[in-house]
Amino acid sequence: MPNPKKTRHRTAKVRGESVKILISGRQIQRRIQALAKQIRKDFPGEPLHLVSVLKGGVFFLTDLARSISGEVSFDFIAVSSYGQNTRSSGQVRLTRDLDSSIEGKTVIVVEDILDTGMTLQYLLRLFQQRKPKHLRVAVLLDKPERRITAVHADYVGFTIPNEFVVGYGLDYSERYRNLPYVGVLSLVPAAKKESMGA
Ligand code: IMP
Ligand code: MG
Repeated sequence: MPNPKKTRHRTAKVRGESVKILISGRQIQRRIQALAKQIRKDFPGEPLHLVSVLKGGVFFLTDLARSISGEVSFDFIAVSSYGQNTRSSGQVRLTRDLDSSIEGKTVIVVEDILDTGMTLQYLLRLFQQRKPKHLRVAVLLDKPERRITAVHADYVGFTIPNEFVVGYGLDYSERYRNLPYVGVLSLVPAAKKESMGA
């Protein structure tokens, strides 16, 4: 069997990109266990409805959902934000709505990263109108330096510096989502010309 780590890094090198590990897979899993315990402690005995934002939040959702004890259900929503490179233009558009109503439910929005906060601000406004019993936010990563909104996450995995990160759901032009860790992406000048996906 090829070493998956080496294979991934070879791909990165060919493209003139490199990924330096920031948070290991083990650290991520340990932190998710703690977040799951905290969430259950805050809502003892209550059915919890996790709502994840495609595609970046998927691995965080699946690991978190399996770590929370008791009744848990989940659903997915997808949005796209217009903008160039890593900068969001502030215009968020719904591309896939939830399958079921959230009215009266204890909803935890599960996102990969809180960056400018535009995406979460849009989602929280949308969900609030649908009258959930409680509405909370869990993000794996928080990049507070880039925030331009007053959005606040109730559960934060890791606070990180202002670097472009990939892995564990986060992508660069749809690549690197499958890395089991979170790493900082470096680009050589030629690779920088490519656009960065959200
Ligand atoms: P916000 O609306 O600016 O908070 O952006 C949130 C979205 O931008 C995230 O869900 C990601 O899809 C994307 N994003 C923000 N920062 C990064 C990053 O460092 N790496 C990969 N995607 C990012
Ligand atoms: Mg995302």
